Amino acid sequence: MPKPIFILNGPNLNLLGKRQPEIYGSETLADVAATCAALGDELGHAVRFEQSNWEGQLIDWIHEARDAASGIIINPGAFTHTSVAILDALNAFDGPVLEVHISNVHKREAFRHHSYVSLRADGVIAGFGTQGYALALRRMATLVAA
Ligand code: DQA
Repeated sequence: MPKPIFILNGPNLNLLGKRQPEIYGSETLADVAATCAALGDELGHAVRFEQSNWEGQLIDWIHEARDAASGIIINPGAFTHTSVAILDALNAFDGPVLEVHISNVHKREAFRHHSYVSLRADGVIAGFGTQGYALALRRMATLVAA
C-alpha cells in the first residue's frame, strides 16, 4: 500500500454546503470526504482528509506530509491568495501537489485570480464544483504511480 494522499482544506471550507451555496454548492465537506475515501479505496490509495481554519495547522500537516504522504491535494481557501508561508511549506514537500478550487476563481473578484500555491502546484482544478476533488484524486493516483 503506498503512503496516503493528503487532502487538505483551508479556512471556511468547514461551512461547505451552508455558506454561499450559489457559489460552492450544497454538498458538505463530510460528503466530499466520504466520496474521496470511497474513490481512494477503488484506486488503492489511503486518503487522509483534513480541514482547518488555521494557517499554521495547514503548514504543520504539509510538514508531516514530507514523510507521511505520497502526494498533497490542497484547497487552501482564501490562503491561496495570501499565504507565502503555505507556498514555502509546499516547496519543502517533494511529491506531487494538486490545487483544487470548487469555484472558478478566474470568474470572480480580481484578488482571487492570483494564487501563491499555483507557483508550486503540478496541476490546478477550478470551477468543477466539489467534483474537482475526485478529479484531482484520480490524477494524483496517476502521478504517484509514475
Ligand atoms: C475557494 C476559492 C477561494 O477564493 C475562497 O477564498 C475559498 C474557496 C474555492 O474552493 O473555490 O474559500 O478556494
